[in-house]
Amino acid sequence: MANTLRNKLGRFKKHFLEVKLPQYCYKSGFLSSLYYAFFNRSFNRENKAVLAGKVKHIKEAVNLKSNYFLLVRNTHRIEKGLLMRPRKEVFATAFIAETVDSYIGVMGKKDDTDNLQKKWFTDVLTEYFNVCQPHPVVDRQKERFLNVHARQSPVNGQLEGGAIPYLRNVSDFSSISYEEFYKLNRQRRSVRWFLDKPVDRALIDKAILAAIQAPSACNRQPFEYHIVDDKELLQTVVELPMGTKGYAHSIQAMIVAVGNLDAYFDERDRHLIYIDASLANMSLMLALETLGLASCPINWPDIEEREVKMAKFLKLQPYQRPIMCIGIGYPDPQGMVAYSEKRPLDVVRKYLG
Ligand SMILES: Cc1cc2nc3c(=O)[nH]c(=O)nc-3n(C[C@H](O)[C@H](O)[C@H](O)COP(=O)(O)O)c2cc1C
Repeated sequence: MANTLRNKLGRFKKHFLEVKLPQYCYKSGFLSSLYYAFFNRSFNRENKAVLAGKVKHIKEAVNLKSNYFLLVRNTHRIEKGLLMRPRKEVFATAFIAETVDSYIGVMGKKDDTDNLQKKWFTDVLTEYFNVCQPHPVVDRQKERFLNVHARQSPVNGQLEGGAIPYLRNVSDFSSISYEEFYKLNRQRRSVRWFLDKPVDRALIDKAILAAIQAPSACNRQPFEYHIVDDKELLQTVVELPMGTKGYAHSIQAMIVAVGNLDAYFDERDRHLIYIDASLANMSLMLALETLGLASCPINWPDIEEREVKMAKFLKLQPYQRPIMCIGIGYPDPQGMVAYSEKRPLDVVRKYLG
């Protein structure tokens, strides 16, 4: 009797919270916030991670004056100033000081920041200070930059073959035809059956090298690929997402795309981890096809229990979030793929006017 009453109350509560209350709350921003603050905690993990990222970003930028993502973003903003038509005589005055701050901080760190990126920072700033007309703010930062620059090793300090805006050389363009590209896109299907054969890491690296050529907002590339190809570890990770039922055992290596929310100083950019990583993921999957490998993109559900397990498994930081998984391997020619007919062009494409 007591159990029946408890079950009834439980069902009523669930119905009220998940069906009734949202119907009142969705009408106002304030009520929606109250709903998600007190009755539905779905956004909690994202909120926490976004805030952890923002705090780290601001701390590095303001207190430590050494923020890699800020430096990348501002270097790119200066690139855009350099290629602008017409180019302004003086530009970037609002952020050149923080850029030089972070340049000094990042260049001074003994870490694994890619040398070519360091060359890019140096070359763009060198070009900027070369072309900018005299201006008190620019002149002061130029002096600081040249001071540090003079102390750098040649690989970071030379403009020769400069990593600065350039005109693309048409004769270097790819000879892939649209037909071949379309064929590659048709060839890529979500493959769930793989040969029992370890994946050559050199091929994964090649695919990732292609993937990281993808566009990303202000070139920040706020993601990393965590790859699991060890048989024992693989057994755990393939079970963490929900969508691998029935074929998890067939996956030969799992790639987990992880987003870094410390790339941003403001919540407005929080979705970029998903956008940028997904653009790269598509290139990654196409590249795998060209290398004789196949893949299945796998959803990462925002469910507390799974998030905790994945964070522990990958040793993620509070500002890092799993974005999606990609199961890969050499395709089993005897394994079928779904037909998954796509929506018609006329439905997806809408020209305005
Ligand atoms: C973000 C995303 C999440 C996906 N999640 C899963 C998944 O959890 N399990 C699965 O078997 N397939 C998953 N897929 C594969 C889709 O089912 C598949 O892409 C779709 O049916 C179209 O088929 P195709 O990839 O062969 O063109 C996912 C695909 C994407 C892009």
